[in-house]
Amino acid sequence: MTRRRLAQELGVVAGFENPRAPLEQYHTPPDLAAHIVHHADLQGDIENRTVVDLGTGTGMLALGAALRGPERVVGVELDPAPLATARENERKVAARPDVDWIRADATRVPLCLTDATVLMNPPFGAQTGNEHADRAFLDTAADVARVSYSVHNEGSREFVEAFVADAGGEVTHAFAAEFDLPRQFDHHDSDRETLDAEVFRVVWR
Ligand SMILES: C[S@@+](CC[C@H](N)C(=O)[O-])C[C@H]1O[C@@H](n2cnc3c(N)ncnc32)[C@H](O)[C@@H]1O
Repeated sequence: MTRRRLAQELGVVAGFENPRAPLEQYHTPPDLAAHIVHHADLQGDIENRTVVDLGTGTGMLALGAALRGPERVVGVELDPAPLATARENERKVAARPDVDWIRADATRVPLCLTDATVLMNPPFGAQTGNEHADRAFLDTAADVARVSYSVHNEGSREFVEAFVADAGGEVTHAFAAEFDLPRQFDHHDSDRETLDAEVFRVVWR
């Protein structure tokens, strides 16, 4: 399946019905999710591997991975409401294998893994004054992953590289991503907000 076809398949994935601003609930656009998953697949990080989506929301990254032949996919989310949507999305996408949806705190994840591929678009903390809320998600990736792909706020490269180096890992790829968000939170003052982000591939071990 091409990257474009993957983005089309993910076009049916519904987003958050009642998004909660403190949890930074906005969904990754299908194009960007397809870009990340396709890139990961070309690196050999999806097929026949265990893929974990931390802060899965309505399942966009988990379902993208599930369309590319992994051995197992786990979606971890704190909030039960988007998890219910994720289950409906799974039926629409008809991916295999079935995704294991787990309601849990992604920063204290109840998984005994060391070799997973982690995909994540974690909360950045920029709007809530909790700068680098993504740090705790990176901590989890360092524990459970061999490789991770994570979306961060623009300007995070220095922070991510320093964090990863401290954990003995390496940032092997980085690319910029810009995406539109519909107006859904009070701190958005126009109909659409453009989010400038950066995506990093990290090899942890
Ligand atoms: C930016 S959204 C990304 C959603 C989804 N991964 C996507 O790409 O469309 C961040 C998600 O992380 C979830 N989240 C925030 N803090 C969390 C935590 N401590 N544990 C698990 N999920 C969390 C939010 O509820 C939200 O669904």
